[in-house]
Amino acid sequence: MKWVAPPSAFIWKLRTMTDEPALVIQSSDVNPRVLVVEDEEIVRDILLKVLTEEGYRVDAVETGEEGLKALDNNLYDLVLLDLNLPGMHGLNVLSAAPATQTDAQFIVMTAFGTVDTAVEAMRLGAYDYINKPFRTEELLLTLKRAREEADLRREVAQLRRKAGEQAPGNKMVGRSPPMQRLFDLMERVSPTRATVLVTGETGTGKELVARGIHDLSDRARRPFVAINCSALPETLLESELFGHMKGSFTGAIQSKRGLFEEAAGGTLFLDEISTVSATIQVKLLRVLQERKVKRVGGREMIPVDFRLIAATNRNLAELVDDGDFREDLFYRLNVFPVEVPDLRSRREDIPVLANYFRLRFAEENGVEPPEIPPETLSRMMAYDWPGNVRELENFIERAVIMHAGAKSIPFDPPQALGRRPERDTLSRSRAERWDLERLEREYILECLEETHWHQGEAAQILGINRRTLYRKLKKYREDGLLADHQVLQD
Ligand SMILES: Nc1ncnc2c1ncn2[C@@H]1O[C@H](COP(=O)(O)OP(=O)(O)OP(=O)(O)O)[C@@H](O)[C@H]1O
Ligand SMILES: [Mg+2]
Repeated sequence: MKWVAPPSAFIWKLRTMTDEPALVIQSSDVNPRVLVVEDEEIVRDILLKVLTEEGYRVDAVETGEEGLKALDNNLYDLVLLDLNLPGMHGLNVLSAAPATQTDAQFIVMTAFGTVDTAVEAMRLGAYDYINKPFRTEELLLTLKRAREEADLRREVAQLRRKAGEQAPGNKMVGRSPPMQRLFDLMERVSPTRATVLVTGETGTGKELVARGIHDLSDRARRPFVAINCSALPETLLESELFGHMKGSFTGAIQSKRGLFEEAAGGTLFLDEISTVSATIQVKLLRVLQERKVKRVGGREMIPVDFRLIAATNRNLAELVDDGDFREDLFYRLNVFPVEVPDLRSRREDIPVLANYFRLRFAEENGVEPPEIPPETLSRMMAYDWPGNVRELENFIERAVIMHAGAKSIPFDPPQALGRRPERDTLSRSRAERWDLERLEREYILECLEETHWHQGEAAQILGINRRTLYRKLKKYREDGLLADHQVLQD
């Protein structure tokens, strides 16, 4: 709870009533943002007035269409939605609400005697409903409860995040058929205890999938323990996973439980599973068969209750063929394979993700979300995103910060320059014939990208003077190797 100064209208009201200092307590440290979608002018005005006086930041619109537009452009804490709207019905607004509104609690307003629609609204994810006409206290109480519940949910998510360490814990966004299929798979496998193998290119969201499966499962209240197997040397990984007894190796001054034990009743996530050594592969196989662990230096077989999710961006079957991964372990892990599609094969998710990140980072950084103009979006759609969602997320985060205050985000993907997405110039396929001139051009463009097309800085990195750089760029442009619209900064 924090003390928050209320808006002046409210202070005035309090002052006229009592001489007490004008302060109110609110459950959250910012004034919650509310969207009111209501076609009746009188009701809308009353809501606007009452809620503003209570310290809410209110946007009020008349139609469902306007409501959706507002939901596309802002993040709300609460949405007060009339169901009986001219044009688009409230229920349709509810079901079409963008996936970006992960925190918004919807409260629908219904006329007396329309219980069915209220029930339908709850089924579509509304938090609560309120019958019209309602009393102000009733409304405020409903809003307060909705807020408290949302706060609680966030708190729990935060705690879980802390418990699971790094964890982005963000919602998964995606509208494309491959993502819908993925969500469907996640829902199906989560209630079971089946071992899941998540595969996919780097940055596609494998860890999010693992967390999602855990969150959807009946183990959600128990720990989600994640470890990146490639981050630790073999002996350390072994004692992390299985635990160790005091004195079992130099430095083991205390006995320690391993992650299989820590995950008690929850989920153990082994990231980058392809990197584990042959010795650890054997031990993993044994735990999976026996559901018991033996700590390093210990004798006792300790029963463990875990659900295993493993992830890899390598093709495990190929590693098995090459003799680099145990076949029996592969089958134990691959009980329920889940493949996360790369971003370029589901391009319709690009605008949805971009919008989600745009709003999220603007909110996190306390800036107005810059617009993504159609030209930028179409270039983003054409780009191949070798780093997948992570690359897109990083791009938008940087853009939101760099263009804070500016109206729109520009995008100059490597591909707009007629280049292939792979970054490492020298390790490119030998099949491509490289001449020095082309190599130089690639390198120059890479430096320019690094410096966000700041010519002065790029020239410095390249060790040439700015006039030389300018001359080269002019030539590239004349040769049609550089797009005209490429904005160059000084
Ligand atoms: N569908 C999605 N919706 C929202 N955010 C996403 C989505 N997919 C990925 N992200 C975000 O992209 C980033 C990369 O995701 P994640 O770490 O899960 O990928 P990964 O497949 O495990 O990558 P790596 O193979 O490099 O470990 C994270 O910040 C994650 O929050
Ligand atoms: Mg990962």
